[in-house]
Amino acid sequence: MSNANEKRLAGEAAIRYVEDGAIVGVGTGSTVAYFIDALADLKDRIQGAVSSSEQSTAQLKRLGIPVLDLNATGPLTLYVDGADECDSHKRLIKGGGAALTREKIVAEASEKFVCIIDSSKQVNLLGKFPLPIEVIPMARSLIGREIVKRGGNPVWRDGVVTDNGNWIIDVHGWQIADPVGLENDLNQIPGIVTVGLFARRPADVVLVGDKVM
Ligand code: 5RP
Repeated sequence: MSNANEKRLAGEAAIRYVEDGAIVGVGTGSTVAYFIDALADLKDRIQGAVSSSEQSTAQLKRLGIPVLDLNATGPLTLYVDGADECDSHKRLIKGGGAALTREKIVAEASEKFVCIIDSSKQVNLLGKFPLPIEVIPMARSLIGREIVKRGGNPVWRDGVVTDNGNWIIDVHGWQIADPVGLENDLNQIPGIVTVGLFARRPADVVLVGDKVM
């Protein structure tokens, strides 16, 4: 089965977690795009969505789904998002689409995080996919040096500016045996806005295609 087909199945399967009257947290990416398409069929049964990116906001609005401000909604019951890698503990690498900061905020605000992936994203050890880190631009070199000290190879995603006006460093060469420890450690470095490790707050449910992992 092609990855695109598994992504579509996962996006459509996540609809079963949407309850009537809900405000749904919505992630970013090609898998989430299938979820948003399916959500449009239920738009009269939900209050709306909190979006994690300008890209998802545009699709939600185009399909007539109200986009709400997280500051006004309070906690959410459900967040649906994709991932770049997922281990057996539902810990993730995210940020391939540079939307990691808002994704992490909406995930944190949500009671249940349903992660939708195709089977190519499943790994035993996180890190083959370069770890995205969103950084304040003036701190790029400082952070690069800190990553080298920790054995990583930082590569600036040149030309990419996030929705928050920041830059992305992709870290190659890490085999991440302790994702929570690395996430906590990196979070202490000044200038790092968000680490694309979702380990401290992993997914609650992972759908691989239409199967629960
Ligand atoms: C965006 C993300 C995406 O969830 C991740 O890149 C997966 O994308 P796709 O569903 O297109 O494979 O973290 O920042």
